[in-house]
Amino acid sequence: MLGPVLLAAARSDSIRRIVSAAPVTRPVVNRFVAGERLDESMAVVRSLAALGLEVTLDHLGEDITDPVEALRNRDAYLALAEALGAEALGARAEMSVKLSAFGQALPGGHDLALANVAPVVEAAAAAGTTVTLDMEDHTTVDSTLAILGELRQRFPQTGAVVQSYLFRTEDDCRALAGEGSRVRLVKGAYKEPAAVAFQDKREVDLAYVRCLKILMAGLGYPMIGTHDPRMVAIGQELARRGGRKLDEYEFQMLYGIREAEQLRLAAEGHRMRVYVPYGTDWYGYFMRRLAERPANMAFFLRSLATRG
Ligand code: FDA
Repeated sequence: MLGPVLLAAARSDSIRRIVSAAPVTRPVVNRFVAGERLDESMAVVRSLAALGLEVTLDHLGEDITDPVEALRNRDAYLALAEALGAEALGARAEMSVKLSAFGQALPGGHDLALANVAPVVEAAAAAGTTVTLDMEDHTTVDSTLAILGELRQRFPQTGAVVQSYLFRTEDDCRALAGEGSRVRLVKGAYKEPAAVAFQDKREVDLAYVRCLKILMAGLGYPMIGTHDPRMVAIGQELARRGGRKLDEYEFQMLYGIREAEQLRLAAEGHRMRVYVPYGTDWYGYFMRRLAERPANMAFFLRSLATRG
């Protein structure tokens, strides 16, 4: 019940202002967000790398309304690529981008987002790393996959994300399961209508397994983005049955969530990548994490009560 309310709140400007300004919010946000500045996020990359974990970095920002903000976001990613290159961390850390931070929702947004993200993908390659295009709400999927197709012509290692809650995703998995294709499979984090997405959690889980089977049977590089122990176990079993080596797929989890499991998988020899968000624009990301799990909301409310 609470999940849809929080997902609606994630897109409300007035609630954004109240939650972002409340000083008590900060310690709870810190559980999920690596810091506001680039140097803070780089410190987290180093400490995760020392634990044997890989990273994908997300400079927080989404749903921008002004083309100038898109340029700022592009520049933040260019600085990130430079920092990864300077510290030779490209082999350990890649970058995740949301095209809505690059202007996708603005008039002419498809071309604008492509023009803004292309230099980032190029800078990533120069730094020895790559970019994965996060997937946002269902209205953006066609445009995001088309931009992916354009980017892959020059940078075939550019990654995609597909969400098992969408009816279309099994077909998208088939289309994306070709040689060298890096695809992160997730359940999906947005509030989607019944016309396009499964509403029942069990259906989303079953779809996740069907999609995982397609990706693991294909020629690409599946990135299993989930904290769900059953999905992790199924991923391991499908890899074993398909004869995939440990470097032919990877697991991905979010910063601050199921850290012991992240370390356990890495210790077993799996490639385990942690999605590390940083930056000042943490509100939408934070609200989606609260929506995913009532216990996180309880944790948030408890800290409000004890401090207030
Ligand atoms: P599920 O929600 O069923 O949770 C399974 C278990 O994991 C829970 O029982 C709990 O133990 C733990 N857990 C899950 N979420 C938690 C939380 N917030 N706090 C604490 N514990 C939690 N979505 C999207 O739409 N577009 C995208 O581009 C991405 N990108 C992305 C990258 C990576 C690396 C990950 C891991 C996830 C995403 N997501 C995403 C988010 C994804 O769609 C989904 O919302 C979350 O991963 C939660 O789904 P699970 O598969 O973890 O399962």
